[in-house]
Amino acid sequence: MSTSKLPHSDNIEMAGPWVTEEDIAIVTDMLRNGWYGKDAYQYVETFEKEFAQWHGRKYALMTPNCTTSIHLLLDGLGITDGDEVIVPECTWVASAAPVVYQRARPVFADIDPETWCICPQSVKQKITDKTKAVIAVDLYGNMPGMDALKKVCDDAGIYLIEDAAEALGSKLNGVRAGKFGVGSVFSFHRTKTITTGEGGCLLLDDDTLFERCKFLRDHGRAPGTYFNTEVTFKYMPSNLQASLAYAQFKRIDELVDRKRWIWKEFEKQLADVGDIQINPEPEGVYNSVWAPAVVFGKSHGIQKQDILDGLTALGVPARPFFYPLSFLPAFSEYASDNAEKNAPISYDISERAIHLPCAFTLTQEQIKHYSDCIKKVIGA
Ligand SMILES: Cc1ncc(COP(=O)(O)O)c(C=O)c1O
Repeated sequence: MSTSKLPHSDNIEMAGPWVTEEDIAIVTDMLRNGWYGKDAYQYVETFEKEFAQWHGRKYALMTPNCTTSIHLLLDGLGITDGDEVIVPECTWVASAAPVVYQRARPVFADIDPETWCICPQSVKQKITDKTKAVIAVDLYGNMPGMDALKKVCDDAGIYLIEDAAEALGSKLNGVRAGKFGVGSVFSFHRTKTITTGEGGCLLLDDDTLFERCKFLRDHGRAPGTYFNTEVTFKYMPSNLQASLAYAQFKRIDELVDRKRWIWKEFEKQLADVGDIQINPEPEGVYNSVWAPAVVFGKSHGIQKQDILDGLTALGVPARPFFYPLSFLPAFSEYASDNAEKNAPISYDISERAIHLPCAFTLTQEQIKHYSDCIKKVIGA
């Protein structure tokens, strides 16, 4: 793979994008030409069309970020006061925060020890007559057991939503992340596989749901009219944001290849450390590994915080695996009294795992150095 155009940093960076001169030329074209008449939303329209097609979806709606994509979808589905939405314990807060925006209740399900994604059996146990949806998160690029999740959701008559924020380019049995459930969402944050600074996208197939979400996205009005029939959101994308999305997405294969290279390099450098688990790629999965993460086996007898403190003391950046949401003060009112007992895998894995650097600036030497720091900290 040619690495001549790769971004560079003397420091080991935790996360960050790969923006090329070609990307800058496309954004410059938007800045020069993308403001008037039919050009004013041209990059938005082109990107949405191509992004939907690539995922085998009928529709795409860009939004200011992925959090707003989730919010738009929940509102579009009519999820509201008193409803329950099942989310995995281990994920970024953005998967669950929009449930609270809707005054619905997030209900936390345990994760699977192999995929680190939501566990279908745990979901089944959490379903009540108030449950309206399950949000399955493709954590770190890993894929959940979607067939089992779909069956659980179909049997209960509830929606399956896919939070694919971290999984652009992953596949499960030949189907791209972004094609599962009633709707899927992506993030184009600075730290994600493709970036627009802040940005997100909602993918849908259903005509009525698409029309509803499009209406909700722009202050409750029919496109081109100034006659608002409901008070809704302003979650519109800009042509500027979309020009960078378009440019980055043209390079999706190269970007995913590099993410996988980072993952493989960490696997190589940590190969001599026994009893660890790095992002899995079981049969049928193609993992685009937005970020590698490592779970340290119990034989190491070490906790996440000790590893993070040790790495920080060695002068490299350190970031934890996601905390169980029920452990966070932000969600305390939704946590059950037996939160840890209800989600033993999530509490156990989260306590023994860290998120590894995933910046596009990482070199082989930096990955080796970081891996050596890990070995020093755990005494391997
Ligand atoms: C799993 C997951 N869901 C949702 C989001 C929210 O994305 P954004 O920051 O674009 O709102 C993120 C981003 O970090 C994420 O990792």
